[in-house]
Amino acid sequence: MRPKVFIARPIPFEVEAYIGEYCDYRKWDSTESIPVEQLMEEIRDVDGLLTSGTPINQALLDQAVNLKVVSNISVGYNNFNIEAMKAKGVMGTHTPDVLDETVADLVFALMLSAARRVPELDKLVKGGEWKAGSDTRLFGVDVHHKTAGIIGMGRIGQAIARRAKFGFSMEVLYYNRSRKPEAEEKLGVQYAGLEELLKKSDFVILMTPLTPQTERFIGREQFALMKRDAIFINASRGQTVDESALIEALQAGIIQAAGLDVFAQEPVNLDNSLLQMANVVTLPHIGSATAQTRADIAMMAAENLVKAVRGEIPPNLVPELKPY
Ligand code: DGY
Repeated sequence: MRPKVFIARPIPFEVEAYIGEYCDYRKWDSTESIPVEQLMEEIRDVDGLLTSGTPINQALLDQAVNLKVVSNISVGYNNFNIEAMKAKGVMGTHTPDVLDETVADLVFALMLSAARRVPELDKLVKGGEWKAGSDTRLFGVDVHHKTAGIIGMGRIGQAIARRAKFGFSMEVLYYNRSRKPEAEEKLGVQYAGLEELLKKSDFVILMTPLTPQTERFIGREQFALMKRDAIFINASRGQTVDESALIEALQAGIIQAAGLDVFAQEPVNLDNSLLQMANVVTLPHIGSATAQTRADIAMMAAENLVKAVRGEIPPNLVPELKPY
């Protein structure tokens, strides 16, 4: 019998065709998230689920009695309840490596946009305010030769560091759970304690995965340590920051600006104060969203899914669910 899978996110046609070679499938094809009740119905009889961001909790695992694998179309997997998946013997996969350079590009887009006030000036030019270009109050700050402090020196952190160091002649400090001597040697980055990094960096770039240890990792105390003209960038997960502390820090001038690809609640609520601030650049969680990279990620996730439902060990099991 062919395995059954449910595709909970729109994916490119070729990726769907690849899944169709090996599996029977149903799919959700809207850019809106699938309603939970419908998802719960769809997963009743499936062997595999292709998704991103869907909370894989006890209720879902209890409902999906045949489930063998959840394949995330993302590198982050904070949507997985690892213990519950372990207990049920459900595999979980993600998509490492393939998006590193694309996310690092986006981080630089946020840094440059916030530093040079690109969205603000764009709006003014389109509104006929060309003279904004010579208004000294709208002048930005440099990125080159400044200090970047990267929190989380994984693969994406290293791709950011390479751009910072060799593209923009920046000093690069990093903070990570463990030191990365290879990155230090190859990229010339310097390990720093969190406090030192926060005090010295012009750009504080948060790239740590969301885990119980990193939830609200940056809060009031950490913003207070930053430079008054620091620019805070978050392209990890919204929950790694205490969002009210961030709003407070921006409103009180404790930091200068922010560039955010992620929010505590997504889609971000329209009454979130961050959306009202000219010194905050906001994006709708698009770190990996180039057509090419999203297609590559979807294919990688599909390969993980197909391998697992056919009884093989998929290549990109998340570390916590790897057999030892
Ligand atoms: C992921 O894949 O987890 C990231 O959020 C990329 O934007």
